[in-house]
Formats: sequence, C-alpha cells, structure tokens
Amino acid sequence: MSRYTADSRDRVRDAVDMVALVSGRTELRRSGANSYFGRCPFHEERTGSFHVSPDDKLYHCFGCQASGDPFNFVMETEGLDFVGALEALADRFGVALETVDEDPEAVGRRARRERLHALLGRAAGYYARYLWEAREAAPAREYLLGRGLSEATLREFRVGYGPSAWDRMLTVSRRAGFSEEELLAVGLAQRSKATPGQIYDRFRERIMFPAADARGRVLGFGARAMRENQRPKYLNTSDGELYHKRSQLFGIDLARVAAARAGRMILVEGYTDVLALHQAGVANAVGIMGTALTEEQVNELERVVKVLELCLDADRAGQEAMLRAARLAEGRKLELRVVPLPEGRDPAELIERDGAPALRSLVARSTPFVVFHVERILERADTRSAEGRDRALAELAPVVAGLPASVLREDLLRRVAGRLELSEGRLASLVSAAAAGRLLTAPRRDAPAPEPGAAPTRPLADLDQGVRAERTFLVTCVASPEAGERALARIDPDALLTSEVLRRAAHHLTGRLRSPLGELPAEDEELARVVADVVARAGRAGPVGPEHIEHARLVLERARLDRAIRRARVQGEAGVGDLARAREQVLQGIRRVVAQLERAV
Ligand code: UTP
Ligand code: MN
Repeated sequence: MSRYTADSRDRVRDAVDMVALVSGRTELRRSGANSYFGRCPFHEERTGSFHVSPDDKLYHCFGCQASGDPFNFVMETEGLDFVGALEALADRFGVALETVDEDPEAVGRRARRERLHALLGRAAGYYARYLWEAREAAPAREYLLGRGLSEATLREFRVGYGPSAWDRMLTVSRRAGFSEEELLAVGLAQRSKATPGQIYDRFRERIMFPAADARGRVLGFGARAMRENQRPKYLNTSDGELYHKRSQLFGIDLARVAAARAGRMILVEGYTDVLALHQAGVANAVGIMGTALTEEQVNELERVVKVLELCLDADRAGQEAMLRAARLAEGRKLELRVVPLPEGRDPAELIERDGAPALRSLVARSTPFVVFHVERILERADTRSAEGRDRALAELAPVVAGLPASVLREDLLRRVAGRLELSEGRLASLVSAAAAGRLLTAPRRDAPAPEPGAAPTRPLADLDQGVRAERTFLVTCVASPEAGERALARIDPDALLTSEVLRRAAHHLTGRLRSPLGELPAEDEELARVVADVVARAGRAGPVGPEHIEHARLVLERARLDRAIRRARVQGEAGVGDLARAREQVLQGIRRVVAQLERAV
C-alpha cells in the first residue's frame, strides 16, 4: 500500500492545521493553551464533548469515544481510504508527496494508469465543452435544461455531449499524444467490424455522464441516446483496465462527503436521478445504474455510511433489487431502509413533477427494510383462503422471527395478525415455532456434536440423508396440496418413514394439507415445530409438480426396500429375491420420473 514514503506522511501531518481542518465540520472554541473543544461531528449532542489538541494533532470525543489523527479525521468525515486521505491533506496543506522507490515494473504500471486517467479526464472535459459550445449539441442542452436540470448541476457532474462525427475523440486524443491502443483500452474507441484495422469513436450523438471513482477520477462513461431509434438507451463503457461496472457507484465523488456527514447514503437507479437529487439539496445519493447492488459496491458503501436508503423503482425489478440488497447487507453493520416511491416514478421525474420538497419528504418517510418486506409478502398473499394465509405465514414467520423484541416487532405482529385473521398470541407462538424449527433443522456448521447418550431434545437437528429425504417428501406434499393429499393417502407413514416425529407429522398432515398449521395438538410442541418447518420450506420451494412428489416417494420406497433386504439377510429369511426385484422396479420408476423432470426444464 505504502507507495508514499513515511517521511511524506510525517510532513503532511506536520503541515496540517488541526483547528482549521476540524472547523470545517464543527465550531471550535479555545479551552486552554493546547486545547479546543466543540460539538462532536460524529454523534448528535448538545454539549461540547469533542476535544482537539492542535500541537499533538489529535482529536478525542468524550461522548462517543471517536478519536484519532488528521488522517483518521479525513477518512471518517469524507469516507476515504488512507491513501485518499493522505492525498487530500497533502493537496489542502500544500505538501509534495514522494513515492517510495518501486521496481521498474510497478513504476511502469503506475505510469500507464496515470496516462489512462489523464486521457479519460481530457475526454470528459472535451465532451463537456462540446455540450455547451457546439451547435449540434443544442437539442441536448435543451433536453437537459427542459428536464429541470440546471447548468450548475450539469457542469458539476461534468455532463457532456459526444459529437456525431466518427473520429472527433480519436483526432483530439491523438493530437494530445495518446495512442490508438490507449483509446481502445479505456473504451473511448472501438474496432470497426466492416473495415479491419479501422477504429472509430464509441460514443456519438449521445449525452455523456462521466463515471468517476471516489477521488473524482473519470473511469468511464454512461452515454444516453438522443435520437428516438438509437439503441441502447444508455451505452456504457465496457469493463476494462480501469472501469469495473461491479464496483462503480455513479456520483460517489460528489456524494461522499455529504454521506459521511449524514451517516447515510441514498441509492437510486439512474444517472439523472442522482443529478436531480443533488440539485434538490440531497447530495448523499449515488446511482447503481440499473443493476443489482453488488458485493463490491456494498464494501465501498460500508466504509462511508451506516445506513443505506434504497430509493429504487417500485416496479418488479426494483423490488427484486431491494430483496437482493437485503441479502447482501445481511451480517454486515449496514442498516437498510426503503424509500416508498410511487409506482412508475423515478426520483428525477418526481422532482420534475412535484418539486424537491416532495422528494425530500418521501426520503424522510423511509421505513426499515423489514417493514417493506412484510408488506410485500402481505400484498402478494391470497388472504381469502386458509391455504393462502398459511403460505403467507410460512413466508412471514422467519422474517419477523429475526427481529429482536421491540415496538417495531409488536407493531408488525399486530399488522400480520390482522391480515391473516389470527389472534396475536397464536401468531406469536407460530412465529417462534417457525424460528425454532429453522434453528433446529439448520444447525450452525460449527455447532458441537451432540453428546452420546444425551437426551434427543433436538430431533431433527442433525438430519442424516435418509431423514432429510423423508422431510423432503412431506415438503413436496405441502407445496402441492392436491397431489400431496393423494400421495399421503397412498402411503403408510409408519412403514415408509423412520423418523418418529416425521411419522407424526405425516399423520397430522393427512387430510389437512389445505391448512397444515391448523389443529396442531397443543401438547405436542415438537410436532408443531416440525410442521412449521416443513410448511416454511414448502413456502420457499413454491408449487411443485406431481412428479416431484412421486420422485420423493420413490426415494423413500427404495430406502424402505433396502432396510427390508438388510433385515432379511441378517435374519436369514427367504424372500430376498422378491425384495430385490421390487427394488429394481422402484429404481426404474425413479429413472422414469427423473427423465420426466429433465424434460420439464
Ligand atoms: P432508466 O431507463 O430508468 O433510465 O434506467 P433513467 O435513469 O430514468 O434515464 P432518463 O431519466 O430517462 O434519462 C435506469 C438506469 O439503468 C441504466 C442506466 O444507468 C440508467 O440510468 N441503464 C438503462 C443502462 O445502463 N442501459 C440501458 O440501456 C438502460
Ligand atoms: Mn428517468
């Protein structure tokens, strides 16, 4: 990492004026020879717990325990990494940084990257000038200004226009000393398919949105079509040496500081959404550019903020993106909230139509992700039938069960109970049964093995493969109740299943698949847990075809015959031959069903 010398770092630290640096964030008052204090920029407070020692170049908050040196301060308040903070401070306090001697190869790689950055920076400047000066860009200017974006905002984001001619970027870049290879490497030019050896400008007749990294260096472009029949609507830089779509956050360079200060970042889909929000005074917004949030983006965001506000389209894709974001955020320190956008509107349109205050108040009304998730399950549920309510319950239980005891949890339980026509007490016990079932059947990998001879308090905890197959059979039956009823009626649970509790579950489910959680005997808690788990798994599996049930049944039948054959051998009984023939038939049946299933996909 340390490509700058330790001496450079020390010189920057010496040059920093701590009081000037911190005063940019909070007002400081003198409290002694080498001491200033003020309100802490890292937590909400009315008193001044935040102390600065200009001579030692240190800060410390007695309220929230935040502390560090100038580099920590910039990293925290501006969401930069160490090198970024070092460079920012060197810039600000006028220190020239020296790099350590590197091997020639590393020096060469760095020199190349710097040239490519320079090329992209010049290109962005060229496109921006072209937008404001060229006659052919007049419709683009009108279009952008007509959408309510101001010239100041467009200039701040370096929005530009790509000329219609096929070689303008090639020409100006060559003239500035860049090679064709470099133009191709950054994606400004591409090879002609028609004329081998010929290259031409990639972005023509398009509005150019430069995508920069956190330090503001341009890495690529999103280019919006201007003509009706021009496809695609947005042409983006392809992944290459510098540009990686997966880690790109549009507007991060301009949003970083505001987001670090607010502790939260708003995620929107489009380029224009970011510009519109920024112009509306909501600067802590970045664009994920119509794609799913990625691990790389989350890593970057996690360094800057604690809260993500998802402000994505209310359409299906947007909702899917939110669920995926939730899975990514799981197990991290990030809190997810959802901004309730009206169906069919993106933030840019909302601002255009209803004005900035309308959008600001929507953002202020964001809800915790779990509320959005529960609402979504309830919306889709068919709450008129007992079956539909059971399915919804199976989906909801693990969502609500994950919440710690809180007013929010109570509130959600009340809402769910109302919609599913259950008493709150009954719902609470079903939810905890589902939670327990989930814990029981999905033991943590690092869970200690049960002691030999210990009481079997966790009946399905360490399912062997055979018992898992038995559970699968019940899950498929619940997932398709009609075919499931027929299958359950055909089998003898006591012969086919080896797990005692799954036998009880099979008996319970027979004739009750339309409402599997109803009529559970109050005294059999183990049964309630297992049935709730089976129902939850069926809910996740979704409807399955009768072949799935048949397949699961045949697998159990084969296992039953295996047991019978073993027993017959041990006890020296006759009839092993008949059993083996029956087993062969079952195997053929399995092959047949598998072939059907394969045809179906
Ligand atoms: P939208 O189609 O919603 O565009 O795609 P938009 O942002 O509202 O654009 P305007 O306001 O009509 O100009 C959302 C985002 O998805 C990405 C872009 O990042 C876009 O901003 N996208 C969309 C593409 O990358 N390629 C496409 O062809 C379309
Ligand atoms: Mn739009």
